[in-house]
Formats: sequence, C-alpha cells, structure tokens
Amino acid sequence: MLIDIIAGARPNFMKIAPMIKAFHKHKSNGGALCYRLVHTGQHYDARMSGDFFEQLGIPMPDVNLEIGSGTQAEQTAGIMVKYEALLRGKPSGLCLVVGDVTSTMACAITAQRLGIPVAHVEAGIRSGDWSMPEEINRMVTDSITNWFFTTTEIASENLRRSGVSDDRIFFVGNTMIDTLLANMDRFREPAFWKGMGLNGKNYFVLTLHRPANVDQSKPFAALLGAIAEGTRGLPVVFPVHPRTAKTLQVLPDFPDSFRLVDPQPYLEFNYMVKNALGVITDSGGITEETTVMGVPCLTLRDTTERPEAIRAGTVKLVGTQVDVIFNEISSLLGSEEEYKKMSYAHNPYGDGKACQKIIVALKELV
Ligand code: UD1
Repeated sequence: MLIDIIAGARPNFMKIAPMIKAFHKHKSNGGALCYRLVHTGQHYDARMSGDFFEQLGIPMPDVNLEIGSGTQAEQTAGIMVKYEALLRGKPSGLCLVVGDVTSTMACAITAQRLGIPVAHVEAGIRSGDWSMPEEINRMVTDSITNWFFTTTEIASENLRRSGVSDDRIFFVGNTMIDTLLANMDRFREPAFWKGMGLNGKNYFVLTLHRPANVDQSKPFAALLGAIAEGTRGLPVVFPVHPRTAKTLQVLPDFPDSFRLVDPQPYLEFNYMVKNALGVITDSGGITEETTVMGVPCLTLRDTTERPEAIRAGTVKLVGTQVDVIFNEISSLLGSEEEYKKMSYAHNPYGDGKACQKIIVALKELV
C-alpha cells in the first residue's frame, strides 16, 4: 500500500521526520506499507525548508509540487491542481497530512475528492478563532478526514464532541515532540552566539509571524517597543520570518536590545530556546516545545488551540495589547515565584512513540 506523506511548510517538517523513520523501520521488518513523500513547495528556501530536511535526516521528496509564494487562495488552488494531476497519474492508497497549514487542507480535499482516504496527524485541536487561516485549515481537514491521530486527550474529546466516532480517533501523542526529544542531545550553538554575548538564561527569544501581528507597521512597531521595554535591555534574539521581514524593512528603526537574525535551522533554534530566560512568540508549535523544555513562554495571541501548556502554567496567553505585554514581561522578570512556576518542564504530549502507534493503526486500517 502506497501512502502519500504531505509536507509543505516549516512546521510540517519536524512532524514528518519521525514518521518517515517509522516507515523505514516498518519496511525493514518486512512490512507492506510504503510511502511517497510529497513536498508541496509552500515553503521552498533553504532557511524555511532545506535546512530542516538536512538536519532531521528527511530524504529528498519523491515529488515536489513547487507551488511557491502566493495568497492562501492561490496556494490552495495551485496545490490542488498539481496534487490532483499527481494522483490521477499515480494514485496512492492513503493521503497522510500533518498539522494545519495550507498544504494540509489542500491535499486532504484533493485526495478525498478522488476517493482516496485521508489520515490527519495532529487532528482535533481547536482555537475557536476563525480569523486564523490555520483554524479554518484544521476544521476543513478534520471534516473530511477518515482517521484522526491526536496529540492529546483534549483534541480527541474535541473530535468526539463534533460527532466523530471513537473507532476513528487514535490518541498517539505528538510527533513534533518525538522529534524534539530525539534531537535534544544534538542541539547546537548558532554561529552568532558568542559574538552576541549570549549566555545561558540572559536573553529572550522572540518569534512573530502571524499576519495580525506583523502585517501592519504601526501596531507591529508598538509591539516591539513594549517587548523591548518589558525585557529591560536584555538581549532579545529575533529570528525574522520572511513575512515579518517585509514589514521590518519599512520600520524606521527597531529597539537597540534586539538581535535580528535569519530564520534558524532546527538544532540552532532549539538550542537558543532551551537556554533562553524566556520566549515571546505568536507561534503555536513553539509553545509545546517550551513546555517540554521548561522555558517560560508568553504568547502574543488571545486564543490557543494548545490549552495543555496554559493549564500546566508554563505558557501564558498575553494577547496583543502593549500595556498588558509590558506588564506580563515585567511580572515574569520581577517575581522569582512567578518565574519558577513558568519554568516547570512538563510533557502532556504522549510517550515519545507517536509514530510507531500510527504505523500500528495504519496496518489495521489500510
Ligand atoms: C505558514 C503557515 C503557518 C506556519 C508558518 C511557519 C499557513 C496558512 N500558514 O505561514 O501556519 O506557522 O508558515 O512559517 O499555511 N516565504 C519565503 N520563503 C519560503 C517560504 C515563504 O520567503 O521558503 C515568504 C513568502 O513569499 C511569503 C511569506 O514568506 O511572503 C509567508 O509565507 P506563507 O507560506 O505564505 O505563510 P506563512 O506566513 O509562512
């Protein structure tokens, strides 16, 4: 049975890496499942894609749809047209999608329309915020998924509540956290580390890429100002996402304590996070990684699809109002007790064997 593994954008790559290793292991044990790795090309440059393949030992994709940049509608349509052509020429028996990016939804729709069943890894998470494209992607994908692999029991419960029967839901854990745990010993200092005077726990890591936070220059500059003020002159290392770089270009300046760097490869980025005093981000996936590594994380969003870390106390949703952001950073830095509460390493994401469990389930299902 040939299974398409779909990967399109940066947060997909760490989720598929252990999946592919699990397929190889299954094959070398004489298993009948094999995969075709389909890269949609949504992210295409070395810093957003190639570096992750190299560092995580992901083989070259079997097919690259080379969709490139565009609006979400253009990317969705382009991926669907090209993936449909691929499936018509050489059909697969199952389409396995991960996460919540445009590529996830576009390939799920295309496969299902051709009668090819869909399996969704990281199914069932919900923020309730329809202004985020990822929430629409998750809801559309889950509405046409045959088999749901979930990262937490909360996600499984969300699916049950929406009417999915228990026999289609498999709580397996989080493949991205499996990658994190498997690579922690390999994390490595970025080249700029010493030159920037970074030591353990004397700096923050900042990542911002949500359109609502970074697309408009004025509110974006105000956000950066509040972060600089709250962090009291401590270095703030800011790997700049390409979307964010476009807005940064038109700002007259940015705070002195900011250290702007390119998007980092996986091992360097997580080295920085592991050793940081704290992380300030609008990402969802990073909040799972900081929770497992015990690094306090302030999330500049009003909602989350990943409530476990909030419940554990390691992640705080601080929204996007500048006075609140300033106050929250100040209280993190000003209170040892608060800091300790937020640095509690915690893993609600399964036992590190998500991919083996997915293979076991697939053997029965397909
Ligand atoms: C996408 C995902 C988001 C994920 C993020 C991680 C969707 C809806 N969003 O958002 O969930 O958290 O990726 O990065 O799928 N670009 C490059 N080089 C690349 C890729 C993109 O320069 O290799 C540029 C594009 O031209 C575009 C911008 O980066 O201007 C944004 O890329 P895009 O894939 O449209 O969406 P993201 O905002 O990255």
